[in-house]
Amino acid sequence: MSKMALLLSRMWPSSLFLFIILVWLPYVTHAQSNSTLDPILDFCSRWFSSSVVKGNTLFINGGIETFYDSGLTSDPILGINTYLIKVFMASSWDWKTNITITDEVKPTNPKTGTLPPSLIRGTMFQGPANVSEVFVFGGTTFRGNQSFVGYTPPDANTYPLWSYTYDPSVQSPNQWNQYDLLQPWRPNHGAAAEAVDQNLGFYLNGQIDKGTSPETLHMGNDTTHLDGMLVIDLSNQSAKNISTATITGGGPRVGGALEYIAPVGNKGILVALGGQLSPISSKSNATTGTLLGFDTVDVFDIDSYLQNPDSSGLWYAQSTAGDIPAPRIDFCTVSVSALDNSSHHIYLYGGHDPVQSVNFDDVYVLSLPAFKWTRVNFGKSPRWGHDCHLVGNRQMITLGGNTTNEQCDWESKGVAILDLSTITWGSVYDAYAPQYLVPTAIVSWLGGSPSGGAKIKSPIVGYNNTGLAIVFNTTRTLPSSPANSPSPVTPPSPATPSQSQTATAQHSSHVGVIVGLVISVVAILAILTGLLLWFRSRKRRKAMAPRELDSTEKTEYDIHKHHYELPGIRDKPAELGEQHGHSEAPWEPTTYAVELPGTNVVPGGNPGIPLVRTPSSSKGSQDHFLHE
Ligand SMILES: *[C@@H]1O[C@H](CO)[C@@H](O)[C@H](O)[C@H]1NC(C)=O
Ligand SMILES: *[C@@H]1O[C@H](CO)[C@@H](O)[C@H](O)[C@H]1NC(C)=O
Ligand SMILES: *[C@@H]1O[C@H](CO)[C@@H](O)[C@H](O)[C@H]1NC(C)=O
Ligand SMILES: *[C@@H]1O[C@H](CO)[C@@H](O)[C@H](O)[C@H]1NC(C)=O
Ligand SMILES: *[C@@H]1O[C@H](CO)[C@@H](O)[C@H](O)[C@H]1NC(C)=O
Ligand SMILES: *[C@@H]1O[C@H](CO)[C@@H](O)[C@H](O)[C@H]1NC(C)=O
Ligand SMILES: *[C@@H]1O[C@H](CO)[C@@H](O)[C@H](O)[C@H]1NC(C)=O
Ligand SMILES: *[C@@H]1O[C@H](CO)[C@@H](O)[C@H](O)[C@H]1NC(C)=O
Ligand SMILES: *[C@@H]1O[C@H](CO)[C@@H](O)[C@H](O)[C@H]1NC(C)=O
Ligand SMILES: *[C@@H]1O[C@H](CO)[C@@H](O)[C@H](O)[C@H]1NC(C)=O
Ligand SMILES: *[C@@H]1O[C@H](CO)[C@@H](O)[C@H](O)[C@H]1NC(C)=O
Ligand SMILES: *[C@@H]1O[C@H](CO)[C@@H](O)[C@H](O)[C@H]1NC(C)=O
Repeated sequence: MSKMALLLSRMWPSSLFLFIILVWLPYVTHAQSNSTLDPILDFCSRWFSSSVVKGNTLFINGGIETFYDSGLTSDPILGINTYLIKVFMASSWDWKTNITITDEVKPTNPKTGTLPPSLIRGTMFQGPANVSEVFVFGGTTFRGNQSFVGYTPPDANTYPLWSYTYDPSVQSPNQWNQYDLLQPWRPNHGAAAEAVDQNLGFYLNGQIDKGTSPETLHMGNDTTHLDGMLVIDLSNQSAKNISTATITGGGPRVGGALEYIAPVGNKGILVALGGQLSPISSKSNATTGTLLGFDTVDVFDIDSYLQNPDSSGLWYAQSTAGDIPAPRIDFCTVSVSALDNSSHHIYLYGGHDPVQSVNFDDVYVLSLPAFKWTRVNFGKSPRWGHDCHLVGNRQMITLGGNTTNEQCDWESKGVAILDLSTITWGSVYDAYAPQYLVPTAIVSWLGGSPSGGAKIKSPIVGYNNTGLAIVFNTTRTLPSSPANSPSPVTPPSPATPSQSQTATAQHSSHVGVIVGLVISVVAILAILTGLLLWFRSRKRRKAMAPRELDSTEKTEYDIHKHHYELPGIRDKPAELGEQHGHSEAPWEPTTYAVELPGTNVVPGGNPGIPLVRTPSSSKGSQDHFLHE
C-alpha cells in the first residue's frame, strides 16, 4: 500500500504531463468530444452520411449535419456529425413514438492516437458475418464550416478503411481500428456495394477533392474523378484496384449507385446505375459534367474477376426499357429478389440533377432480367444525398438527405420507411413484416404472381451481349461449407453514451505501461468522464425543451403520396458552400505538422506503429496529380 502510494506520488507530475499529452491533445486539436451539439437531440437535417445494417443495429457515421441551436437562434448551425449513431432494429418501432436511437463519441484509436473519421460521401460495409465489426471506407472532409467545433482538418490518405467493434461481449468493445489498403487515395462520392456472403466490398470510381488529404487542400471547388474499382477483401483488409476502362461513359463517374445481386451468375453480379462524368477538361466541379442516363446500366460479372484475379473482370453494358428515370446523382438504391429468384428488383429513390438544379422525390424499380423500369411512386418532397437499406423482409429504410426546400427535415428522426411490396411510405419499421411480394404494377407486365414465376426471362430490348445472357442463365451454386452460413453474432444492444464514454476511459488505460501512470490516468479520466457526463446530461435536458416546442409545428404528412406541406415561412437556408471569411490557405504545412502521429505512416507501415513523415514524403503516385 505504502509502496503504491509512494510510486503514485512520484509518478504524479510526469503522469499528469503525459495525461495532458495523451488524453487532452487529441481533444484540443480536434475538439471533437467538446461538441455541444448532439446529432440526435439537436437534429435538423443530415446528408452524405454513410450507414450499414448489421445484426440488429443500423449504424450511421459522418455526414453533413445541420443542428437546431437549442432553439435560441433562427438559423440552424451547419456542421458535421462526429458521432457514431445506432438505431435499434431488433424490434418494430414507429419513429414518431418509440424508436431507439443512440449516439456515442468516437474514441481515438489508442494504438495511433488518431480519431476515427467523420467524413462525407464515404460508405460503410458489414464485413464478415462472424466478426462483430462494421467498416467505414472512403469519404472526404466537409470544409463548409471550418469553425464548427467538431471540424478536423483532412488526414493523410493512408488509412481509408476503419473498423468499429461493437459487441460488448468481446474483449475490446467500441474500439476503432485503421487499415492501410496500400492504395494512393481515399476516394469519395463513388458507388459502393458489398457481397456480404463473400466478404467483398466494392467501390466504383469516385473522386478526390480539397477535403481528401492535406495534399489536395488547394483544389478549391475542383474535383478529380478516379478510375478503377476497388475490390476490398474485408476478411483480411486488403484491396485491389481493377480497371473500369470498359464501363459506359468512357470515364470515371461519381454520385451513381452499385447494387449486388447475389443469385445471378456464379458469384453474383454488380449493377452500376447513373452518376456523373467528368467534363471535357480534367477538372470538374459539381455543376459541370454529363449525367449518365438510366437507359443503359452496366453489369459486372464478379466470377469473371474471381476466376482470373489478374484481369479486371468483365463489364456488360445493357440497354433498359420502360419508364426510364431522368438522369440524376445522389439517389439511393436497394435490391430485393422475388421469392423464387425469377426476378430481381432494384429500387431507386430520389436524387438530384446538379446541372439543371432539379431534385427528385420518386421511386423507380429496375426489374432484372427484363431490364425494364417501372415508376411506382411520385411525391413532392425531394430528397438527395440520403442513404437507404433493405430492412426486415421487405421494407426500405431511408436515412437523412438534403430536403432543399425545407429548412429542417420534417422526418425529425432522419428516418422513413417504404414498404417495397405495397409501395406505401410510413413511419413504422416492422421487424416481422411478411415476405417480399413483387408490386402489382410490376407483376402486371412481368407475368407470374407477386411471389414469383416471372414470365419475362430476358431483357425487353434483348441481350446486348451474349456473355451477359450466359451470366443470367447461370444458377448460382452456393458452397455448402459451414463457412458460408453466418454464425450468429450476438445482437448488439445500442450502447448508451455513458457506456461508450466509460469504454473510452477503459481503453485509454492501455496507453501507459507504468502502473502508477495507468492508475492516475484512469483516476483522472474517471473524474473527467463524470464531469463530462454531468455537462452532457445537463445539455441534454436543456436541449429537450425546445424540441418539444418544435414538434407542435410539425409538418403535415400525407402517407400515401409522400407529400408534405411547408410549415410556414422559411428563413434563409443554411449555406452549404465554402464559408467566406475562412480564406483557404493553398497549403497548410504547419497545421499538418502539429497533427498527431499515426495518420502519417510510410507506405507498407503497420497500423498501430506510428511513423511520422512529412508532407513531402507522401506516396509517389500522388505526384501525377500535383503536376496537373
Ligand atoms: C469547448 O471548447 C471551447 C473552445 O474550444 C471552450 O470555450 C468551451 O468552454 C468548451 N466547452 C466545454 C463544455 O468543454
Ligand atoms: C413501437 O411501436 C410499434 C408500432 O406502433 C409497435 O409495433 C411496437 O410494438 C412498439 N414497440 C415497443 C417496444 O413498444
Ligand atoms: C459554424 O460552426 C460554428 C461553431 O459551431 C457556428 O457558430 C456557426 O454558426 C456555424 N456556421 C454556420 C454557417 O452554420
Ligand atoms: C485506382 O487506379 C487508378 C488508375 O488505374 C487510379 O487513377 C486511382 O487513383 C486508383 N484508385 C484509388 C482509390 O487509389
Ligand atoms: C486476403 O484473402 C484473400 C482470399 O482469402 C486472398 O486471396 C488474398 O491474397 C488475401 N490478401 C492478403 C493481403 O492476405
Ligand atoms: C435465391 O438466391 C439466394 C441467393 O443466392 C439463395 O440463398 C436462395 O436460396 C435462392 N432462392 C431460391 C428459391 O432459389
Ligand atoms: C463550375 O465550373 C463551371 C465552369 O468552369 C463554372 O461556371 C461554375 O461557376 C463552377 N461552379 C462552382 C460551384 O465553382
Ligand atoms: C443494345 O441493343 C439495342 C437493340 O439492338 C440497341 O438499340 C442498343 O443501342 C444496344 N445498347 C448497347 C448499350 O449496346
Ligand atoms: C441456358 O442454359 C440451358 C441449359 O442450362 C441451355 O439449354 C440454354 O441454351 C442456355 N441459354 C442461353 C441463352 O445460354
Ligand atoms: C471467421 O470465419 C473465417 C472462415 O470463414 C475464419 O478464417 C475466421 O477465423 C473466423 N473469424 C472469427 C473471429 O471467428
Ligand atoms: C441542402 O443543400 C443546400 C445547398 O445545396 C443548402 O443550402 C440547404 O440548406 C440544404 N438543406 C438542408 C435541409 O439542410
Ligand atoms: C466555390 O463554390 C462556392 C459555392 O458554390 C462559391 O461561392 C465559391 O466562389 C467557389 N470558389 C471558387 C474558388 O470557385
